[in-house]
Amino acid sequence: MSADNPTLSMTRAQMQRFGQAALDTIIDHHDGLSEAPVGRASDPQMLKEWLDEPPPMQSSDPLDVLEELKNKALADTMNITHPRYFAFVPGPSNFASAIGDMLASAYNIFAGAWLGPSGIAAIEIKAIGWLKQLFGFSNGSGGLFVSGGSMANLTAIAVARHVKLRGNITNATIYFSNQTHSSVRKDLAILGFQPYQARVVPSNDFGQIDLSALLKQLDSDRARGMVPFCLVANAGTTNTGAIDPLTKLAPFCQREGLWLHVDAAFGGGAILSHKKRHLLNGIEQADSITIDPHKWMFQPYEIGCVLVRDKNHLADTFSVKAEYLEIFEHTSADDQQVNYCDYGVQLTREFRALKFWMSLKIFGLENFAGAVDRGFMLAEHAQHILQADPDNFWRVCTPAQLCTLTFAARALDKLPKEQAEAILIATVRGIMASGDAMVAPTRQDGKMVLRLCTINPRTRRKDIAFTIQLLKDEIQNRL
Ligand SMILES: Cc1ncc(COP(=O)(O)O)c(C=O)c1O
Repeated sequence: MSADNPTLSMTRAQMQRFGQAALDTIIDHHDGLSEAPVGRASDPQMLKEWLDEPPPMQSSDPLDVLEELKNKALADTMNITHPRYFAFVPGPSNFASAIGDMLASAYNIFAGAWLGPSGIAAIEIKAIGWLKQLFGFSNGSGGLFVSGGSMANLTAIAVARHVKLRGNITNATIYFSNQTHSSVRKDLAILGFQPYQARVVPSNDFGQIDLSALLKQLDSDRARGMVPFCLVANAGTTNTGAIDPLTKLAPFCQREGLWLHVDAAFGGGAILSHKKRHLLNGIEQADSITIDPHKWMFQPYEIGCVLVRDKNHLADTFSVKAEYLEIFEHTSADDQQVNYCDYGVQLTREFRALKFWMSLKIFGLENFAGAVDRGFMLAEHAQHILQADPDNFWRVCTPAQLCTLTFAARALDKLPKEQAEAILIATVRGIMASGDAMVAPTRQDGKMVLRLCTINPRTRRKDIAFTIQLLKDEIQNRL
């Protein structure tokens, strides 16, 4: 065996041949998506053999590798950008951002620090600045792009812990509703909190935190010597799109001395809508906000964002000194310049800001607003179809909030719970296997219900009607 290319390089002609083929593959994917199946399961035998492949010792033709990728992996992927993918929170990304990501990777940009006269850091500063402006945060605030909502929540709670507790987490308690995303519990474990330090507060019928239950819990905790330090509020729960009463929560937290973190990973996109941004009123008073541009801001994975009202808190929490990093301090000449490694966990960071900046520049904010408004419209349209069903087949459990709604089939209400759930799961699995659409169930008060999340701006009204009819037919076939 011999090494025939130990510099791991390609000639210009090789790069052109491979690069063009890869780009054509991407363009075919984007162009043909609405006609393609939403997903297709891989052949288990093929997958098993492929998984057993030993590491390749010799070089291969790049076009053969691309073909292998297309045939064995990409053809069978679940297309979360597909117009009929309604499960969880879809990821309806866009081509402009995909090219941004490709450029960031191809230039292998280090986005951890302001090194030299840095147009790169300037793009992140600008993009964060636009988000600060949209969310009503002032000049003194700061933020950074991270991998997603989980990491943004982790970063914000780490800052809250640092500012409010100064490292002493004994007896500290943190509060959030029972509708809060599971990432918060994971983040708390990482940050050293025990499960008993997390206070899960009940929510009302609309999925919003129950303020009187919260107050009672705070009083009883203080009486027992606990140290309440933070409230995590929701601006769009994953299950039903509920928004906690943000305008009340900010003064409440000020009175109670709590850090207010708002998890707007799901609902943050609503800030782009002229018609609906009022739903997020009060968010501008939070101490920190999680935003997840790879959800309802239409970016490819991974890009989350955390904003903090006082940028000094970020640096106080995360900045550490090291001899080999000292040069960063000498290359940041003025207040405008930021070493993002001082704001979060990562030192080496990919250039996530590029895709966000590029897509905003190419499409413009007005088109992003239109895309978000479409999500609202599609959820309301789905609700209308369900309620207008001629057989009164459906029961809307939670109406369209943001771009999510949940519903149930009345015929299943009459069946024993286990039988009804078996039918629902078989229905959803059947539809998934057909590749016609992707819908996932969730639970409300322990009961399994169907859920649609309609954030994809390329979804058409007929995709919604088709999917609801498909669900009805599949359930009826199993009754
Ligand atoms: C409300 C909320 N917070 C946090 C997260 C976690 O975000 P990510 O999956 O980007 O880590 C999600 C994901 O769906 C979410 O809906």
